This record gives sequence, C-alpha cells and structure tokens, in this order.
Amino acid sequence: MSAATPRRKPFPVLDTDRLRLRRFAARDVDAMHGAFGNATAMWYWNSPRFKTRAETARLVRVLAKADGPQWWLAWAIARRRDDRCVGMINYHHREAGNGRLELGWILAPRHQGKGYAREAAAAVIRYCFNQLDTHRIEAMIVPENTVSIRLAESLGFRFEGGPIRDRWRADGKYHSVLMYGLLAGEER
Ligand SMILES: CC(C)(COP(=O)(O)OP(=O)(O)OC[C@H]1O[C@@H](n2cnc3c(N)ncnc32)[C@H](O)[C@@H]1OP(=O)(O)O)[C@@H](O)C(=O)NCCC(=O)NCCS
Repeated sequence: MSAATPRRKPFPVLDTDRLRLRRFAARDVDAMHGAFGNATAMWYWNSPRFKTRAETARLVRVLAKADGPQWWLAWAIARRRDDRCVGMINYHHREAGNGRLELGWILAPRHQGKGYAREAAAAVIRYCFNQLDTHRIEAMIVPENTVSIRLAESLGFRFEGGPIRDRWRADGKYHSVLMYGLLAGEER
C-alpha cells in the first residue's frame, strides 16, 4: 500500500450458523435489486422502490463504502455456503451519546421465510449492545407489516407507542409507524 492510500477501517464481519454479514460488493447488485426493486417488499420501506438496476447499483456502491461505527452501517446478509447475498440489515440514526440507534432489515422475497432475517438481526443486536456501547435499539414499523412486527417481537422488542403520525415519506405519501424498542439485556 502506498503512503498516499487511505487506510480502511476493518469492517465488522459477523458470522452466524448459516450467514456471513459482510461489507457490500458489486456482486450483490442483482440480489439486492430483488429486494429494492420489489414493490411488495418496498411497500413497507421508507423510500420508494428502485425502478432500475442502475439505481440499486448506485446504492450498493454507497453501502459498500461504510466503515462504521458511525451514524449508520449496512451489512450484506450472505449465505456462508456460497456467499450469495440474500438481503441487507443496517443500523442508522445512531446517536452514540444517547446509546441509541435504529435497525432496518430487508430480504429479497425469494429468501424470506427461512429465518435468515432473525438470524442476522440477532447477530447485529449482539454486536450493537456488546461492541458499540448501545443501550437502546429502535425499530419503526408500519402497522400493516405483521411479518416485521412478529420478527421484532421474537427478538425481544416491545411495542412502545404509535401510530406515530406521518413519520415516513415514500413516493410522495406520508406513512404512520409503530415504535418498537429493545433495551440492552432484553434481547432473545
Ligand atoms: C421483514 C422481513 C425481513 C422478514 O423476513 P422473514 O424471512 O419472514 O423473517 P425471519 O427471518 O424471521 O423468518 C421467519 C420465518 O421463517 C421460517 N423459517 C423457516 N426456516 C427457518 C429456520 N431455519 N429458522 C428460523 N425460522 C425459519 C419461520 O417459521 C418464520 O415464519 P413465521 O414467522 O411465519 O413462523 C421480510 O419480510 C422483508 O424483507 N420484508 C420487506 C421489507 C420490510 O418490511 N422491512 C422491514 C421494514 S420495518
């Protein structure tokens, strides 16, 4: 490495039984377009679906640059057996001073229903509590997203309030969300 090359911080790779949570790479674009390009999956997300693969490629390039632990970090959720990306999990709106951050999760539809989101989220929650000095993790979920609510509750999150009115805007429309919270020590 030349003296002028900026040094990259090591990325916090997290391994679970079936998954490796790692930095995003260009090879993940098609898999992620399965999620970000999917109208059903994105109906529950706080930004509009991507109509083109190029838009997803742009986002994947941004996600791949993150080094953490700053105010956000995204992990590609990859299967350990073939390194195939099945989705994304991220934290965002991290306020280190308050020991607080928010989690987001999304899987490409063909990889849902296999327990991957729960396995990935449990690892990220452990990392946030043990390595980032986090005390409180939040998840904002639209009331219709029963799958995500079930996932959050299975991880130990508690319903704390809402609907919080017009908290998100996607596709020019405002969406109200429920607030779920998990304190250190409550995780399952
Ligand atoms: C929310 C989302 C990530 C959940 O994905 P998921 O794959 O359903 O979630 P899980 O990893 O918890 O999988 C659980 C399901 O897999 C099944 N499963 C199959 N094999 C399994 C295994 N080996 N281990 C655990 N669960 C397994 C479980 O029975 C469970 O189904 P159930 O909840 O009906 O009982 C996914 O629905 C999604 O991407 N939605 C669109 C985006 C979104 O809504 N994001 C959240 C915004 S707040």
